[in-house]
Amino acid sequence: MAKKILTRNVDFTDQCRIAAAEKRGAYTAVRKALTMTSEALIAEVKASGLRGRGGAGFPTGMKWGFVPRNIGKPVFLLNNADESEPGTFKDRVLLERDPHLVIEGMIIAGLALGAKWSAFYIRGEYAYPAFQIQNAVKEAYEKGYLGKNIFGSGIEFNIVVHRGAGAYICGEETALIESLEGNKGQPRLKPPFPAVVGVYGSPTVVNNTETLAALPWIIENGGPAYAAIGTEKSPGTKLFSASGHLVRPGVYEIELGYSMLEFIEKDCGGIRDGRKLKAVIPGGSSVPILRAEDIANVTLDYESIRDAGSMLGSGALIAMDETTDMVDACMNLQHFYTHESCGQCTPCREGSHWVEKIIHRIADGHAVPSDLDLIRDVCSQIAGHTICPFGDAMVTPALSFLKKFPEEFEARIKTIISTSNNGGADVRSECSA
Ligand SMILES: Cc1cc2nc3c(=O)[nH]c(=O)nc-3n(C[C@H](O)[C@H](O)[C@H](O)COP(=O)(O)O)c2cc1C
Ligand code: SF4
Repeated sequence: MAKKILTRNVDFTDQCRIAAAEKRGAYTAVRKALTMTSEALIAEVKASGLRGRGGAGFPTGMKWGFVPRNIGKPVFLLNNADESEPGTFKDRVLLERDPHLVIEGMIIAGLALGAKWSAFYIRGEYAYPAFQIQNAVKEAYEKGYLGKNIFGSGIEFNIVVHRGAGAYICGEETALIESLEGNKGQPRLKPPFPAVVGVYGSPTVVNNTETLAALPWIIENGGPAYAAIGTEKSPGTKLFSASGHLVRPGVYEIELGYSMLEFIEKDCGGIRDGRKLKAVIPGGSSVPILRAEDIANVTLDYESIRDAGSMLGSGALIAMDETTDMVDACMNLQHFYTHESCGQCTPCREGSHWVEKIIHRIADGHAVPSDLDLIRDVCSQIAGHTICPFGDAMVTPALSFLKKFPEEFEARIKTIISTSNNGGADVRSECSA
């Protein structure tokens, strides 16, 4: 079911200007937040049940509760607008079309956390969203909504706009922090978690753009009102960026708990050219692929998608029709992960190339049956053996495509062996990983 909380104003072409945004209610919630204590704000967000929209779905209020206070160090807030996961383009709509909503959410989070400084970390390729945010931040400073004395309250809150340089890994929160500090964007070992040791060794909360944009509505209407939307464990609305072989791809805001099939058929107009749905990646390239048969009773919420064997992730639904070659699609994703490994951990740096090479030779007609086990073996030595969750993410396309569509990988190998003169024996020796 479509329900508009985050996107209620994105279709107004002047919404990016502060005067027009204010006429539609912008900066009302933050005025209310200024009358509340930090504890009351955190309690409201906890009551809302809001879960982080960056991928992991961690409860936002609980995360804020981990931040140590009064330890003689400033608290930082970072807006993760790096949005680089293949298939994910939901934050872009908010950044471009309702930047003041996002800024208001950051001020509310800043008040809850006692943070005076915050930063946007915007994906490098997002030139226009960054331009919109920069303009909106300037307008907010001019109005006195940002700066040393926000809304005449005597409270200081600042926003710095920082653009990334095109590395997917900088969306991982500790790599983002490293990059923001001016270092190479490579993840840090956790613990310590950023909430305790983040930017310049200070407590830091990293929240996704969409998470922050939900805060004005929650403060205005109360946490319980937000919790009443969606399902019990997945409250609220969520942005889905729908792409692939759909009649109407795009960004949709839906109430969590909505049927996945209805979303594909009704909201996205079904599969283009009258073809049949073959597979869905429900939450971005890092989550397992599902066959069309798997999603008959699946609803768009964290629990239902998990029970079906995948994850809601960042809400990037990629639909594939019956003409999709799963070996080719898998190879495409694998190439992305190989390219984006930061190179810090040997299993990820080396293993990503190995897996890509093996899938390549399956696709190119040089593989042997044992290559399928070889993929599984290499992946088992990557997942769980790396500094950051990128290692687990990068094995997901290979393992899940292989699990859900083994017949396509096997058929490719069989065809090759039956057409080769030597039964594949020479081919095997030619292509060690
Ligand atoms: C490889 C990788 C890339 C990520 N990219 C993003 C991203 O682009 N945007 C984002 O919000 N979170 C991303 N995350 C998740 C962040 O590390 C972090 O969990 C998130 O920003 C927390 O925000 P939330 O609690 O509001 O969800 C990524 C994680 C990994 C491992
Ligand atoms: S898992 Fe990969 S991306 Fe993450 S730190 Fe290790 S090498 Fe870098």
